[in-house]
Amino acid sequence: MNISVEKTLAEQSILTAEQVVAAFAEVRAQAETDLRGVSNEKQFEEFRNHWLGRKSGVVTKITDNWLKQAPTDLKKSVGQEFNKFKTALEALIEERRVGIEAGAEEAASAKDRVDLSLPGVMRALGSRHLIRQVFQEIEDIFFSIGFSVVEGPEIETPYYNFEALNIPEFHPVRDDMDTFYMELPPSSGGKAAPGQLLLRTHTSPMQIRTMEKQKPPVRVIVPGRVYRRDNPDATHSFAFHQVEGLAVDTDITFCDFTGTIEYFVKQFFGPSVKTRFRPSYFPFTEPSVEFDVSCVFCGGSGTTSSGTCGKCKGAGWIELFGAGMVDPAVYGFVGYDPKKVSGFAFGIGIDRLAMLKYGIDDIQAFFQNDVRFLKQFP
Ligand code: FA5
Repeated sequence: MNISVEKTLAEQSILTAEQVVAAFAEVRAQAETDLRGVSNEKQFEEFRNHWLGRKSGVVTKITDNWLKQAPTDLKKSVGQEFNKFKTALEALIEERRVGIEAGAEEAASAKDRVDLSLPGVMRALGSRHLIRQVFQEIEDIFFSIGFSVVEGPEIETPYYNFEALNIPEFHPVRDDMDTFYMELPPSSGGKAAPGQLLLRTHTSPMQIRTMEKQKPPVRVIVPGRVYRRDNPDATHSFAFHQVEGLAVDTDITFCDFTGTIEYFVKQFFGPSVKTRFRPSYFPFTEPSVEFDVSCVFCGGSGTTSSGTCGKCKGAGWIELFGAGMVDPAVYGFVGYDPKKVSGFAFGIGIDRLAMLKYGIDDIQAFFQNDVRFLKQFP
């Protein structure tokens, strides 16, 4: 800046109104230049003191040296230009203050900011247990031919687990299953505990519960866990899994039954697997059968490269599950007319089915939760 605020206007030979306007324009240009160099709060304070400081700021000096010392004929124009300059300077300063404060806030929040995009601690994801996967496979197959899924209680009454399935109290079939009874204490409301209860020994009670609720046609499967007093070995567990199936309508034949089972087995094991059935006995089906599949390990031949097939013991067949046409006596328990309806039921042991399909030789592996085993079935 050529012009000085330390000297009076007269000392700088500024004698006309035009020169006064030019002088203030020069001062204002200088203020703008200085302000452009201000980028933080400290510099802003220094700028303010330099220009607006009460004792020795530029504005004070202009007041003292230019305004107060102006000759009478210039007083008016100096006064007008001074006011314009002060208003403009204050506006510039305010604008910069807002900018500086916003910048300071941004800097502060940037310092404190938590970066949510940073990757967290990755935990290894588990997978569904093989038994669950097999349940799902079976459900998908039966869904595709019009069955729906229902589930039922694991704690049952003897009525549903036995009597309504045509197994009266002293029937010898109970010997294999009579097990895991529990006596409940009276409920807190002082009411008597319900009669005897037991852990269900099969999923068949859901045949009764379903037919009690629903009129024919019925087409359901029931996946679930069941309990028996069997000693654990490679093919027995005291808790295992079944899928019950039930189809009842006015015109269901034995052919529908075997066709459905064959469809399921081929879908589950592959088209080359053969099925056969043998007479069997269940109190709630008549006739009753046991379904076998051709051995999936030796292709049904009974031999492998190392001799007799160890899985089917040379038979070429593996027993799969029990089934049959629903015994008319069962319809009596659910209010169906045995002369009008017919149907079939089956109960598949899921653990053994999974063992066959996935080549597992010990049922206990399903219950030990050994990660090395589980990891093989992601
Ligand atoms: C029943 O449980 C009948 N409720 C099946 C049924 C349903 C027949 C509907 C007719 C109509 P069973 O006791 O055979 O049947 O058991 C069925 C399957 O469960 C067996 O084929 C076997 O695969 C499996 N299973 C039986 N006991 C055990 C056990 N202790 N451990 C593992 N699997 C078992």
